Parts: sequence; C-alpha cells; structure tokens
Amino acid sequence: MGRIAVLTSGGDAPGMNAAARALTRKGIALGFEIWGVRRGYRGLMEEDLVPLGPREVGDVLQRGGTMLGTARAEEFKTPAGQKRALEALEKYRIEGLVVIGGDGSLHGAQALHEQGVRTIGIPATIDNDIPGTEIAIGVDTALNTVVEAINKLRDTAASHERTFVIETMGRDCGYLALMAGLAGGAEAILIPEAPFDLKEVARRVLRSHRAGKKHSFIVVSEGIRQHLELRPFQSVGEYVGAYIADETGLEVRVTVLGHVQRGGAPTAFDRLLATRFGVAAAQALQEGKSGRMLALQRGEIVSLPLKEALQGRRELDLELLELAYLLSG
Ligand code: ADP
Ligand code: F6P
Repeated sequence: MGRIAVLTSGGDAPGMNAAARALTRKGIALGFEIWGVRRGYRGLMEEDLVPLGPREVGDVLQRGGTMLGTARAEEFKTPAGQKRALEALEKYRIEGLVVIGGDGSLHGAQALHEQGVRTIGIPATIDNDIPGTEIAIGVDTALNTVVEAINKLRDTAASHERTFVIETMGRDCGYLALMAGLAGGAEAILIPEAPFDLKEVARRVLRSHRAGKKHSFIVVSEGIRQHLELRPFQSVGEYVGAYIADETGLEVRVTVLGHVQRGGAPTAFDRLLATRFGVAAAQALQEGKSGRMLALQRGEIVSLPLKEALQGRRELDLELLELAYLLSG
C-alpha cells in the first residue's frame, strides 16, 4: 500500500478542507495510506506529519481555513530547504504528494516534481491568479463575501448619500475586484491589469452625483499599490478615498475588507470544486501522474503540466470594466 501526503500552503482559502477530505477518503478507497503535513512546506521541512483516516477529516467539509494549518516558508525556496523536505518525504516513505495552494505553493510542487517527487497540485487561492484554471478553490466564497459587504455598505451609503471606496484582496490580480465590482454595481473598478486615471474617476463620480446619483461605489484592488505612492501603512483604499474626497468635495468613506475575505464557510460551488479536485488528485496519483495541476476548464476537471498551468499571467476580460461603467448608470 503506497503512502500519499497532503499539505496546504500559502494563503488559506475556503474549500481547502473539502479538498483534503475528498483526497483522503478517495485515496483510502483506492488503497493508499494518507498522511497530512501540518503547516505547509514549513511543516514538511520540520517533519510535522500526521496519519489521516476517514474520521480525521470528518466535520470539515463546511469549514473555512485549513485544518492542516498553512504557512509561508522562505527557506523552502532554497536548495537547502528543499533538501530537508525531500529527506522528510523519504523518511516517511511518501510516494506521492498533493499540494493544495496558490501560485507560489504550486511552484514549490513543481520544484519537488523536478527532483523526482511524484506531485499533484490543486489550485486554491482567493486571488484567482493561476493562469491554467478558470477558477481556483476559495474564489467563489471570497467573491460572495465581497458582494455581501457591498450590499451592506449600500444601505448605509444610500442613507447618508456617501461615496464608498472598497478595497479587495488580490496580491497582483484584479479578478476579485473586477467581478465583485460588476456584481455589486460599482461606478468604478481599479485593477492592476488596466491603466486608470484617478482624476477621471473623480470626474465621473462627481458627474453622476450632479446627475442625481447620490451614492456610489469605487472598488479597488490591493494589487494597484505599485501604481500609487503610498505612505507607510497607508492602504490602497485610503489613498484612493483621500484623493476622491479631495477632488470632488464629496463625503467619502473607505472600507478595507482585508482578511475577512479569506474566511467563512465555503460556498456550495467551492465545496463541489474542491471535492472534485480532491478525488481527481487521488486518481491521478493512482495513474502514476506527476508534475500536474488539476484545473477547471469549460466545466470539466482536467489535469495539465504544472509548468504550463503556471506560465504567464492570468488574463482578465477587461471589457467587463467598460460594462461595469455602462451599467452603473
Ligand atoms: P501562495 O501559494 O498562496 O501563492 P506564496 O506565494 O506565499 O503563497 O507561496 C507559499 C509558499 O510556497 C512559500 O512560502 C514557499 O514556501 C513556497 N514557494 C513559493 N514560491 C516558490 C518557488 N518559486 N519555488 C519553491 N517554493 C516556492
Ligand atoms: O494570496 C492570498 C492573499 O490573501 C492575497 O490576496 C493577499 O495579498 C495576501 O494573501 C495576504 O497575505 P497574508 O496572509 O500574509 O496577510
């Protein structure tokens, strides 16, 4: 009976538990012994592994976060760190490793694959910045969290006739801001993938205010920070909020959603996606596959080489930006 290990790494994403559960139970059904690595690559380097049976992954399907714990481990990027990880895998006689995580974590999986470890990657990150898959685990839940926040802010914004700037996560990717802005009826959406002119945004808000729209929403992605000159500890939202208030003279409030977007029970979509990915990972290892990432493409779960899946930058449909402006009225 072969041994499979599973780890979660990088930013946690709702649905990671559902993926670990599905992998464990399907893996056991296929005859594998399953081990959980605690705290991502850090835990792997430190040999922090625990056996996982069907009961260990009970009651986690509906929970956000990750029961295995996660970490960011700079040392793992070095040859010495990877050597430690390889030694741990050898010591525990692990024959296959499933990495559940974002772009960085999956690059780590590719590095191990290149050194002879049989690895399968499962994309899980609220940023949705992995080029090879239409959507990663956690994105749908985070998106719903942002839209729900916009709904709530709408009540107070309308009551006070205020302009709101809402900052979403997305380290270098504007997906969350773009989709939440469109779904939430934002007046303007600022993302790193598209050039923007704050003066023009201010003009637009003022124009629609004068035309009778007394409250409006500007959704900004944290990813635009590289285009702004932020003071230490100043958020992107605060910067844009101060600018718009200054330019328009309107009453502006800023909400930085922050890590709230990473938590919460996974939506049905995320549970189903994670479950399908988890099952497919166990099957892929049984088929002897390695160095591959599972992905959702046109509704189907497919597997493609990690290298290919991580290549380049995720493309966004920038026409949606124009659509958001048009529909914001
Ligand atoms: P995410 O996986 O959510 O994108 P990070 O980019 O922080 O999060 O990556 C998580 C961890 O994956 C890092 O702390 C590091 O241990 C590992 N990692 C990231 N990039 C690489 C890389 N190029 N090679 C090997 N390991 C990496
Ligand atoms: O990659 C997921 C993410 O939540 C990004 O959106 C954000 O920039 C980053 O992680 C925050 O990282 P940390 O957990 O270190 O605060």
